Amino acid sequence: MSTPVPAVVEALEKQLNHELHAANCYLAMAYWCSVNDWDGFAKFFHKQAGEEREHAGKVLDHLVDRGVLPRIGALPAPRHEFPALIEVARTALALERTNTAGINAAYAVAVEHKDYPAQVMLQWFINEQVEEEAWGEKMVAKVERASCGGGSFYLDHHLEKELLGE
Ligand SMILES: [Fe+2]
Ligand SMILES: [Fe+2]
Repeated sequence: MSTPVPAVVEALEKQLNHELHAANCYLAMAYWCSVNDWDGFAKFFHKQAGEEREHAGKVLDHLVDRGVLPRIGALPAPRHEFPALIEVARTALALERTNTAGINAAYAVAVEHKDYPAQVMLQWFINEQVEEEAWGEKMVAKVERASCGGGSFYLDHHLEKELLGE
């Protein structure tokens, strides 16, 4: 077993805490959407919250497999109030972009220290972020376009198909 050097452990812990923070942010967005009767968006954000927790779990498992007891840090409170749905979409996109920057930073540390297992693990995240930013950008564009009531209603009911093609 190759135990990671402290700098890599620190970088991975920072990222797993980002992922947990993202999970809480999506949870807050899901409840904002529920309260404002955007049920499709609420469902979508609940699913995202679950995925972000799984992402944190991937990094936690990686550390444990390499003999490290991971530290889960204090998380900032997520934003819970939004003036409109478009602001929720813009916040989600910004969150994903910040997350991508965090993953890239962690990857740079893994490269610097020639930590190949951490690099391979993080490559999954680098790829995942391409999809995450893609739905974030689509969400902002489609919410902006759905300016009339009928358009918004349609988008809320077909959100997953519209964003992920599912
Ligand atoms: Fe994530
Ligand atoms: Fe994400």
